[in-house]
Amino acid sequence: MNILGIETSCDETAAAVVKNGTILTSSIVLSQIDIHKEFGGVVPEIAARSHIESILPVIKQALKQAFNRGGRVSARDEELWSNIDAIAVTYGPGLLGSLLIGVLTARTLAITKNLPLYAINHVEGHVYANFINSQFSGNNFHFSNNKTWEPPAFPLLALIVSGGHSQLVLFKDHGNYRLLGQTQDDAIGEAFDKVAKILGLPYPGGPSIAKAALKGNPNAYDFPIAKMSGKYDFSFSGLKTAVLRKVQEICNKPYDFPSFELHGLLNDKVRNDLAASFQKIAAKTVVNKTIIAYKEFKPASVAIGGGVAANMELRSQLKQLLPIEIEYASPSLCTDNAAMIASLAYFQAQHSKPVDPYSLEIEPSLRMTKNTS
Ligand code: KG4
Ligand code: ZN
Repeated sequence: MNILGIETSCDETAAAVVKNGTILTSSIVLSQIDIHKEFGGVVPEIAARSHIESILPVIKQALKQAFNRGGRVSARDEELWSNIDAIAVTYGPGLLGSLLIGVLTARTLAITKNLPLYAINHVEGHVYANFINSQFSGNNFHFSNNKTWEPPAFPLLALIVSGGHSQLVLFKDHGNYRLLGQTQDDAIGEAFDKVAKILGLPYPGGPSIAKAALKGNPNAYDFPIAKMSGKYDFSFSGLKTAVLRKVQEICNKPYDFPSFELHGLLNDKVRNDLAASFQKIAAKTVVNKTIIAYKEFKPASVAIGGGVAANMELRSQLKQLLPIEIEYASPSLCTDNAAMIASLAYFQAQHSKPVDPYSLEIEPSLRMTKNTS
């Protein structure tokens, strides 16, 4: 079963084709990072407008890429669609205007191509990047499948760490999961983005902090790990404030000094040390809870999803502390993409009916709370 996935929940316009939930045959991700960079974060209205411009060309490119793997170079529209059995689209959570573009496009295509439509939860989708058997070599156009690869086994403990979410979820099976805990304030990726701004590092903050941290000393500064009443809950806003206070102290400036002017007073060594020290504690915050959950639930596998799963410090801390191998998707499948949406749709289709393309609505505040058996 070949599913076309469509993803537009934030600032990536993405389309992909995945076969039987595991075999990646195409993936196109058009990032708007360069557009939003000058504003230091995603501007929702600009994101929506940009999705409108790109969504149809991105879908067409994904269909072409999937088709060309059969060895043919050009094809008519009907041919491009001939192998597609269903459409999957992110309907939440995310930015209202961005979600609308993807969902309205998917609804229209499902009706006009007479294909079943699956509505996908973006956050759950991040976990399914780990169900795709694909290795990227060099660039996005060379996928290869590993013959000895096995999908993650259930029960599966999933750590979802992205720009909008930080959650620990225990999956008994596909579609049968329990939310163990989540952030009570900022998401971990949001903390990376905000701390990067304080340090004067470019957006998006995660990769730029990771890069600066490579040259820094992770033990240069002591930052706190928040103590939470919920056993599996996290908090990152205190950590972000602790970095801000440390920068104010280093620069010898009062609390009311404009925070966006502080980074001009930092030298590179201090900036790199701050990035490394923050990154170590941000990762430790989620790693500690993951280890406690692992000991309590003894899952058969542990998987990480979301943009922050690309972080090497997080990966290495988990590797050191967990007694089993961790499931990691390739970095390009950790950040937002449509392959994970198409993969989840395949497994969702085994236990749920498609949605009505005439009535599917977006759910910007959709949560991961269903099936708490
Ligand atoms: O999953 P994603 O692409 O979008 C959301 O669903 O939010 O995650 C984006 C987040 C951003 O906050 C970005 O700074 C962070 O993932 N990120 C990273 C890294 N790459 C992306 N954070 C830490 N280290 C990275 N290497
Ligand atoms: Zn995401």
